[in-house]
Amino acid sequence: MTVRINPSILSADFVNLQRDVERIASADFVHVDVMDNHFVPNLTFGTQMVGRLQAISPLPLDVHLMISDADRWAPGYAELGVFSVTFHAEAALDVVETARALRDRGSRAGLAVKPGTDIEPYLELLPEFDQVLVMTVEPGFGGQSFMTGTMPKLRALRQAVDALGLDVWLQVDGGITLDTIGIAAEAGADTFVAGSAVYGRESVEHAIGELRAAAEAHSH
Ligand code: DX5
Ligand code: ZN
Repeated sequence: MTVRINPSILSADFVNLQRDVERIASADFVHVDVMDNHFVPNLTFGTQMVGRLQAISPLPLDVHLMISDADRWAPGYAELGVFSVTFHAEAALDVVETARALRDRGSRAGLAVKPGTDIEPYLELLPEFDQVLVMTVEPGFGGQSFMTGTMPKLRALRQAVDALGLDVWLQVDGGITLDTIGIAAEAGADTFVAGSAVYGRESVEHAIGELRAAAEAHSH
């Protein structure tokens, strides 16, 4: 299975974002956390900043929307030309309609679930999505501890994706470190978001390489 490492710029230096996206050239995608201080108790940036990142980033953007009223706002991010837009199931009224709006605008469509959200109701909707993001911490902040209790959801997703023969990427986000990435890979994840475990290290390139090797060692 192909392993993807997506560093989260939530842990980068916000006044040196161009420098910090250029430091992660050996990664696969730039994970961009959009927070509205409503769906989560933290605030980052919106379409203006994501548009500028899209213009200057050497790697494609993997946008994670932690915002309310995703049905209304998510399509505007796809219109910026980003690679993928992932919105939260808890923040959308019609997840299928919103996913279709993203694909219509040329972006891959991602569905995210918070640690307490059941995945079962969404398994039959998997063909509508290109990726599913299982949050492994409560969304809002970097540097929190990985929640092992979310792994059964990943296993259920992996089983469903494989049984249906779909190419849906399974992403984990939150508390991914050298100690936890193997647990998530073993449970079926193939795409790994890491903020503090990349930008908190002196050599970000070295950190990316170590995380990738650890994930590959436990990947199916
Ligand atoms: C948290 C964000 C994450 C965050 C992860 O709500 O969605 O992308 O940056 O940070 P770490 O890897 O430090 O847990
Ligand atoms: Zn994220």
